[in-house]
Amino acid sequence: MSGILAIDQGTSGTKAVVTGVDGQVLATAEEELRPRYLDGGGVEQDPHALLASVFTAGRRAVAAAGVPLEAVALANQGETVLAWDRATGEPLSPAIVWQDRRAETVCTARADAAGRVAALTGLVLDPYFSAPKMRWLRDQGFDGGVVTTTDAWIVYRLCRAFVTDAATASRSLLLDLDAVAWSDELLDLFGLGGEERPEIVAGDAIVGTTAAFGGEVPVTGLIVDQQAALLAEACLDPGTAKCTYGTGAFLLAQLGAAATRSRAGLSTSVAWRLRDTTAYCADGQVYTAASAVRWLTDLGLIRGAAELDTVAAADSGGVLCVPALAGLAAPWWRPAATASLTGLTLDTGRGHIVRAVLEGIAAQVATLVGVTGSDLGRPLTRLRVDGGLTRSRVLMQAQADLAQIPVDVYPSPHATALGAAACARLALHPGLSIADAAGAWSPAATFEPEWSPDRAAEHLGRWRAQV
Ligand code: G3P
Repeated sequence: MSGILAIDQGTSGTKAVVTGVDGQVLATAEEELRPRYLDGGGVEQDPHALLASVFTAGRRAVAAAGVPLEAVALANQGETVLAWDRATGEPLSPAIVWQDRRAETVCTARADAAGRVAALTGLVLDPYFSAPKMRWLRDQGFDGGVVTTTDAWIVYRLCRAFVTDAATASRSLLLDLDAVAWSDELLDLFGLGGEERPEIVAGDAIVGTTAAFGGEVPVTGLIVDQQAALLAEACLDPGTAKCTYGTGAFLLAQLGAAATRSRAGLSTSVAWRLRDTTAYCADGQVYTAASAVRWLTDLGLIRGAAELDTVAAADSGGVLCVPALAGLAAPWWRPAATASLTGLTLDTGRGHIVRAVLEGIAAQVATLVGVTGSDLGRPLTRLRVDGGLTRSRVLMQAQADLAQIPVDVYPSPHATALGAAACARLALHPGLSIADAAGAWSPAATFEPEWSPDRAAEHLGRWRAQV
């Protein structure tokens, strides 16, 4: 028996999962990270802490699994960037987290190019994506070394390869989405033209070897976290969709081989490049999901996510929440938007507020479900879901009620890591198909809509008026 170490390097922590030959979980370990929230919409991570969490979580999981390793795979946050020394691998800047909105000025200065950028990249010109943050870092005087997403840096620290995977590259605003190649035009637009860029590789490419977690093993299975979960949840047929409720909530729908641009404000990205073919996906984002729950916790309204369902009232008592604590993404794209809590009266209790925040997250995702359906030309019929907040039955029921489709909960809390491990299995076993690597699964629970369509439409109408 041997195992694949799959590392899910996320915003709020690093999870390491050792999987066996069929993708079964042999051991896990988790290291928490706390981003710093700064004035002006800044969100930063300490790169040293981030890297230490990768090594510590990885080594703990490997020790607990007690099997020899076959490979190391890595899923990454997608749009979090830093500058680092190309020779030593030492960080030269903080990691600027995807939630950071300070690069909005970079986007507004290039607003005239927004249409061209969307046509080339499938993305909206917004500080969420990597390139504006790279430009912003350079403008702040972090001018040495290379500036990349965190995956390229972590992989360099593991095996000295200078690479990023096609899915992560497609989140940068620097990728020609159809050619799956860096675009000189876009590099020039962001003033990054003279800079060395990582080589773009497939998710099933072996990019080097590392002995960081025991014996020398291949590094492979590189993919952005949301796309990894899309793969784990076997969203392989066009029109199948998943939502991961992590730090934010991210809805991705499989598009297949067509990089169809959204007419409704979603983004189009590479889902993955595997087996020499590129699959694309449409995606919509809720920037604060577990972040909003952490905000409730920091305010003292709950002691943690585990209390959500016991504290949430049976209804919100007329309170409505737009949980735009870090701006609004698809389909609105308003980075400067702030959250709102309305309908408060003297008898509003914390249970109403907690319920309203959960319903606010669900309403945002329900909006994305609707937009995705109209973009695809056929409504989504089910939504697959994963992530820590799927443990909240209140949130999941609200999701089914507001989206008006059944919600299938993925049975493992490790979808992202399992998706990265699936990519690594494809690298190690050339005869394996993508469907076999993803595997079949049955939901741990299914939430059916209990609200009538009229009630859902009325609620969403009031909520959207608030947006
Ligand atoms: O786009 C950012 C997203 O992929 C981060 O995921 O798990 O850290 O919320 P997570």
